Amino acid sequence: MVGRPAQAQVEITVSCSSLGVEQELCRSGADEWAARTGNRVKLVPTPANADERFSLYTTLLAARSPDIDVFQIDIIWTGALAANFIDLRAVLSPEDRADHLEVLLANNTVDDRLVALPFFVDAGLLYYRKDLLLKHGRAPPATWGAMAETARVIMAAEGASGQADLQGFVWQGRAYEGLVCNALEWIASHGGVLINADGTVADDTRAAAAALTMAKGWIGTISPRGVLNYSEEDARTAFQSGKAIFMRNWPYAWALLNDPASPIAGKVGILALPKSEEAQPRNAAMLGGQQLAVSRYSRHPKEASDLASHLTSRSEQKRRALVGSFNPTRRSLYREADLIAANPLYADYLRIIEGAVVRPSTIARAQYNSVSRMITQAAHDTLSGRGTAEENLATLTRGLQRASRGGRWR
Ligand code: GLC
Repeated sequence: MVGRPAQAQVEITVSCSSLGVEQELCRSGADEWAARTGNRVKLVPTPANADERFSLYTTLLAARSPDIDVFQIDIIWTGALAANFIDLRAVLSPEDRADHLEVLLANNTVDDRLVALPFFVDAGLLYYRKDLLLKHGRAPPATWGAMAETARVIMAAEGASGQADLQGFVWQGRAYEGLVCNALEWIASHGGVLINADGTVADDTRAAAAALTMAKGWIGTISPRGVLNYSEEDARTAFQSGKAIFMRNWPYAWALLNDPASPIAGKVGILALPKSEEAQPRNAAMLGGQQLAVSRYSRHPKEASDLASHLTSRSEQKRRALVGSFNPTRRSLYREADLIAANPLYADYLRIIEGAVVRPSTIARAQYNSVSRMITQAAHDTLSGRGTAEENLATLTRGLQRASRGGRWR
């Protein structure tokens, strides 16, 4: 083999999140690229919590730090962080462009620049214990009411026969972005919205109030009070150790729950999140997911773009889907038989994504972070019993109106 000239080798630093097996997958994918190109890759582990990661990124980027070349960014940050990333349009072949989900390319295109490559796509899902529902003769629930009722019946029966610590429903109730996702799903499933598609703030918050009041009713009944401090991994740990009947989470949980070492492997079902019993109900899954962006402060933008391109390639996305259930952003992969066999969700996933709810991050852009904080506060206060849903939504609406300047946002 002909050795590469030493000066051609550079070190690229990539930040990957650490939800589930993300670190291992990122490491193996990056190593493959390093071996092929002769470059080196350093991994910077970042917090799994979305809010903590965002503050770390904004600090680094504000300092124009060249320390991280490739950033894994949340779907909701492309607007706010766009100015810090290079345009990746040239990196995408026409085939890639046609294969990636349109909604993600549109999300990642800011002022005609493609500021990040789609990496994986998330949608909120309801996980349930198939074995327990079967044992107690209950059907998988289609509505929130049916879910709560099933949870109560099974908790009571299992409690009477010894499992007193079995919870009904675990989800993300901590005061952070994960709660925004849960809350906007409940609200959308009730036919409500906080910010209209044209950027104006909705003035009718009755559906939103019904949704938050419903969730408040779960605390201390089918959900433990501790859920107010749960993020994704707290919910998964509770569910995976057999301590809950239902769980709201992202697709990554599927691979871990069914790992041979998991106590509930093979006992888990997946459903679309429930509808409400109110007018205009719908299944509402939040659209989430992660992208890879290249810092404009990188000293090696060419190599960094090549690494981002490799990590988001078809083969990498397929591997990540099979090993970690990180769902591809490439439509063609949802037709692959081995992927469909590994994950029952894939047959239906594109339909769920098409109907998914989006956060107002493309509307609010740089202001999304403060929008998210306001929604978090209204939801968390209501769930904790600090004020009613109506009172907290009135405060939220006033805050959003102030921030939106009549729907113009900037
Ligand atoms: C997941 C999603 C992301 C969302 C976050 C909330 O990482 O991919 O879009 O913002 O969870 O916790």
